[in-house]
Amino acid sequence: MSDRTKPAVIIDCDPGHDDVMAILLAARTLDVRGLTTVFGNVDLEQTTRNARQTLEFAQLTSIPVVKGLAHPLVRDIRHGAHVHGESGLDGPTLAPPTMPLGDGLATEFIIQQSHIVENLSLLPIGPLTNVAAALRLDPTLPSRIKEMSIMGGSLTSGNATPTAEFNIWCDPEAAHVAFTAGIPIKMVGLNVTRQVMATPERRAQIRAMNSVASRHVADMLDFYGERYRAISGLPGGAMHDPLAVAALVDPDIVRFEPMHVAIELHGAHTYGMTVCDHRHLPAHDPAAGRLTPPRDANANAEVAVAVDSDRFWQLFLDVLATYP
Ligand code: BDR
Ligand code: CA
Repeated sequence: MSDRTKPAVIIDCDPGHDDVMAILLAARTLDVRGLTTVFGNVDLEQTTRNARQTLEFAQLTSIPVVKGLAHPLVRDIRHGAHVHGESGLDGPTLAPPTMPLGDGLATEFIIQQSHIVENLSLLPIGPLTNVAAALRLDPTLPSRIKEMSIMGGSLTSGNATPTAEFNIWCDPEAAHVAFTAGIPIKMVGLNVTRQVMATPERRAQIRAMNSVASRHVADMLDFYGERYRAISGLPGGAMHDPLAVAALVDPDIVRFEPMHVAIELHGAHTYGMTVCDHRHLPAHDPAAGRLTPPRDANANAEVAVAVDSDRFWQLFLDVLATYP
């Protein structure tokens, strides 16, 4: 049953280890009207399978899963199996899914829910292909969407390329459609998500909870964390996607500043970059303290500039402890 007292969201996802963390966090803190799936970390069949497996092990099968699009709007398809494994969720042994898929297509589901649910928000944590397709199908959609909390982009460097973050880089043209639609946007990018790491200590805390969900999560984060360490030298996997959820749950976890964000669609070295105009910011370093910058009149997004990692972990661990 959905809880009408919480903010209503659709999670558009490509699970993916950190997508699973986002789903678990959101299902207890927000009114999740459905998961729509998209290609991304792995292909669409597999991300859809992973979404169903997640809802099943977490006993959340009242949330519908609706399949979305399998290919980017324009560019060639790319995946992220080098980070998440061939299944997209390597690590734990999960039972094959049995819950039925929701009817129809993700784009139709998003539009239909926007008519039924007042103040619906979108939580895109994969490539923005479904969101862009829904916006193209129904140009009136922005008037019925409260906001989008997007995991994507970066105020600093990328991960898929030196300049582009994976979700945006997978479908930059779709990201352009989403960022120019006029919907209020929270952009939760790599500059903050890379500060929230599932270190071996955090994984041990999770494993010690000793529930079915926590064991699966610990197995996922062990696999994901080792891949991260091998690829980037970081001390664990970054909790990218759940931070976009946390931004809707607790305003003291992520701090935002208004900026204009353009998606680079032409650069040989910058294709898929989120070009954030932060010239008005007095300082990029949160440690330098907060001055009040003048509001950027052209701003189309609130861009995450700082994060309280300990506060995020407190929330995440408290929520995870509620799962069987
Ligand atoms: C994003 O890319 C994916 O690998 C993760 O699930 C996350 O959504 C981080 O760049
Ligand atoms: Ca994702």
